[in-house]
Amino acid sequence: MKMARRVENLPPYPFVEIINKINEKRAKGEEVITFAVGDPDIPTPPHIIERLCQAAQDPANHRYPEAASLPELRQAIAEWYIKRFDVSLDADIEVLPLIGAKEGIFHIAMCFIDPGDIALVPEPGYPVYPVSTMMAGGTPYYMPLIRENNLLPDLDIIPEDIANKAKFMWLNYPNNPTGAVAGLDFFNKAVKFAKQHNLSICHDAPYTEVAYDGYRPVSFLQADGAREVGVEFHSLSKSYNMTGWRIGMTVGNAEIVGALNTVKSNVDSGIPQAIQYAAIEALTGPQDCIQHHNNIYQRRRDLVVDMLRSIGLEAEPPKASLYVWAKIPAGYTSVEFANDLLEQVGVVVTPGTGFGKRGEGYVRLSLTLPDAALVKGLSRLAEWRDTRNKFKSKR
Ligand SMILES: Cc1ncc(COP(=O)(O)O)c(C=O)c1O
Repeated sequence: MKMARRVENLPPYPFVEIINKINEKRAKGEEVITFAVGDPDIPTPPHIIERLCQAAQDPANHRYPEAASLPELRQAIAEWYIKRFDVSLDADIEVLPLIGAKEGIFHIAMCFIDPGDIALVPEPGYPVYPVSTMMAGGTPYYMPLIRENNLLPDLDIIPEDIANKAKFMWLNYPNNPTGAVAGLDFFNKAVKFAKQHNLSICHDAPYTEVAYDGYRPVSFLQADGAREVGVEFHSLSKSYNMTGWRIGMTVGNAEIVGALNTVKSNVDSGIPQAIQYAAIEALTGPQDCIQHHNNIYQRRRDLVVDMLRSIGLEAEPPKASLYVWAKIPAGYTSVEFANDLLEQVGVVVTPGTGFGKRGEGYVRLSLTLPDAALVKGLSRLAEWRDTRNKFKSKR
């Protein structure tokens, strides 16, 4: 078979490899505890499911969805942005629902990138940013995220010619995989940079509602002039435990939203309407589920960070996101360390290199496993520590 180079050169999606490894172990009858994928274990709140079931019974929702989504959904998204961020949006031209944020994140590259073009992408980062750039024929230019710069890209060190040539920049806060957050001062600086170099910004923000210790993440669209240069991607996946329903949105600059809508209208036939009604319910219904989920994640976060520190990893409790980003002990690569945990105690963590080569030296742990599994996972990590210490003291 003669497949396209774009497919042949594509690395496997990192989580596919992890899931395959987990399945192999499970097929052998071994119990595996996984901290790998950021997929909330807590069910979608019942009022949202109720609305979904009700809408599924209506034959009007059995047909192709309306082209660019239900106007009521776009309106609900606009109202949610006002309530949550005090950002007002024109629901007709500045809001576009997506089949999950990932779908839009992939397709937006088709709007910006012609062969040979550059996109600025953070590293470590969500793998879809560089991959979609490459699939559109472009080249990612990696902006390192390092602790010394609070895990924000240092815009001042991007070479002038690269910045001038780049079509757009990806940002993502609260950040996956590092859990870092960004304030309006950084977003204001990014907007200025974008104007200076005539490039656009796509801010990926699916974790703004998953935050701890009273911290409230901001929206990129709150920055001065943000809407002139960019859009924000958001999702109901993590805010309302709706990963399985596949629904998200992009909002902001009307020209970018319009371009994405043009691409999408040639690719998909909309979002199943029953799911759109469920999304309206999520955005307009009671919001107390968010704080309830965050309390659970926060407790897990603290347990995980304490345990990681006790086994010799450096980890800071994140202010937001579903992830703990931990520096592994010297003497291992990220993959070796993750494999060691899997082989020795059946615990799965994501090697930092799944997020690009600047993830080397780190692993990511997700907080989305049920409490009972979490407790078991932590005791296995303690077991790993004790075996290692015993081995060390014998040497
Ligand atoms: C940074 C980031 N962006 C986007 C997504 C995808 O979200 P969705 O489920 O809406 O496709 C994820 C999912 O893990 C993510 O971590």
